[in-house]
Amino acid sequence: MFKLAPSVLAADFARLGDEVAAIEKAGAHLVHIDVMDGHFVPNISFGACVMKSLCGITGLPFDVHLMIENPEQYIGEFVTHETAQITVHQEACIHLHRTIRLIKSYGIKAGAAINPGTPPGALDCVLDDLDVVMVMSVNPGFAGQEFIPKSIEKIRYFNEARKSRKLGFEIEVDGGLLPGHVQILKSSGADILVAGSAAFANGRVDSNIKAFLGR
Ligand code: DX5
Ligand code: ZN
Repeated sequence: MFKLAPSVLAADFARLGDEVAAIEKAGAHLVHIDVMDGHFVPNISFGACVMKSLCGITGLPFDVHLMIENPEQYIGEFVTHETAQITVHQEACIHLHRTIRLIKSYGIKAGAAINPGTPPGALDCVLDDLDVVMVMSVNPGFAGQEFIPKSIEKIRYFNEARKSRKLGFEIEVDGGLLPGHVQILKSSGADILVAGSAAFANGRVDSNIKAFLGR
């Protein structure tokens, strides 16, 4: 099985609480929180204050995805009772190993994400410290983009690496996912699938989520 993490970036912000309640009711496992600063990515989404507005209204753990420059300056702001994992971008960190250790010092799972243009080997030196490896299957910044098929090679790379090095990190895939991708991603080694547009499309959250879960 895999964990489904709908991205609230694609939700109706005017009804954010209701949308999160709907994904929880439909069987989602995590809430994917896409934080964008308009510098690391060409879009601005929202900050910790919006995420915190969801605290206490859902039992789902938060999967925080920081698409921001200098993420080490903001880790603490995203630590809440609901925060299960915080993922930073390898490309945004001058001292990635230090930032991973900082996240873990809060007792929270640490993730590192790589963009489509970044080779998987860029994470080789920190795989032992990671709880989550996030493979971006779109260029970060927007929901509603098309899945990049080459991402599957990276998922397989990390799956082989964790087997050969006997590591326990989870592989998360983020961007452009549709229910039709589930099988190939699962068989390639993915553990957490992020769905934005496909989860919230046409206001049919329940059937959209169930399509991913095969229900
Ligand atoms: C893109 C984000 C993704 C995106 C997912 O930068 O990290 O989480 O919002 O939305 P879809 O599934 O529509 O690509
Ligand atoms: Zn994301």
